Amino acid sequence: MRELRGRVALVTGASRGIGAAIAEALAAEGCHVALAARSQDAIEKRAKEIRQRYGVEALALPVDLGDATQIGPLIESVVTRLGRIDILVNNAGAGIYGDVASLRAADLRATFDVNFFAPVAAMAAAVPHMRSQGDGVIVNIGSIVGKMAQPLGGGYSASKYALHGASGAARAELKSDNIAVVLICPGLTDTEFAAHSRISVPGLEDMQGERHAPLRGVPTERVARRVVKAIRRREREVYITLFDRLVVLGAQLFPGLFEWGLLLATKIRRQRFAQSMQE
Ligand SMILES: NC(=O)c1ccc[n+]([C@@H]2O[C@H](COP(=O)([O-])OP(=O)(O)OC[C@H]3O[C@@H](n4cnc5c(N)ncnc54)[C@H](OP(=O)(O)O)[C@@H]3O)[C@@H](O)[C@H]2O)c1
Repeated sequence: MRELRGRVALVTGASRGIGAAIAEALAAEGCHVALAARSQDAIEKRAKEIRQRYGVEALALPVDLGDATQIGPLIESVVTRLGRIDILVNNAGAGIYGDVASLRAADLRATFDVNFFAPVAAMAAAVPHMRSQGDGVIVNIGSIVGKMAQPLGGGYSASKYALHGASGAARAELKSDNIAVVLICPGLTDTEFAAHSRISVPGLEDMQGERHAPLRGVPTERVARRVVKAIRRREREVYITLFDRLVVLGAQLFPGLFEWGLLLATKIRRQRFAQSMQE
């Protein structure tokens, strides 16, 4: 998709973080954008700023992607109000913290609803439109932890592994329809993701992730620029940094050594969590 000007893109999870940066970067290229998330005020404010700054159409579409019944209507609103859908960015996501063996089933299911079932349902609703247009790009925001286990983040990792699997299959299935499926695997990115993660630890089930320290990673704008490039080139899988790529490669080539690193990381994460509980 070389020319992005005039294209229509839906970005989920566009109220903040990586999604907000992707919506802005696409608008800067001349795309009309629909911003979806639960926080209505935040997406309306961002949509207004985008319209003023870039002179494109920008819609705010409040939605809870944890509710499967809202996903079909979301895609239909984009098509009805902006005329088509060329680019679907499945970015919305949420973390879950806790040992695999003690995760609450309801928490795990809620994580999968947003991180896996919602992107798949959005693809299902968008593909018929892309097919009839003869072109489309679906971007799924995965993670490096969808390629390797993350201690105390096993539920989150599993949801990203699932999304990676579905992305690979869909890429092959949709190629003949001229619909590209791009999987982005960011590493640590500077967002409020941790603060919005669910804590699924016995005794602390009702606590959201306010005990997590904010993530310090690459700026969201860098991720967004790379996403735009990947859309233009219809790339398969994209890492944001060389470090991310090497970590994943290292985990695959040297699993024993990687496991040793995981044990250390688990210990550090437990200590940090225990410390934050005492503060
Ligand atoms: N930050 C990282 O280090 C990192 C690394 C790798 C991958 N990722 C992935 O990148 C994506 C974006 O994460 P981020 O770091 O930008 O996190 P973030 O700042 O917490 O943003 C998450 C976005 O998802 C939306 N969202 C969450 N649950 C939703 C729901 N039920 N319905 C609708 N929207 C929902 C949030 O909006 P509302 O709360 O307004 O609904 C928000 O806009 C996620 O898929 C994440 O897994 C992040």
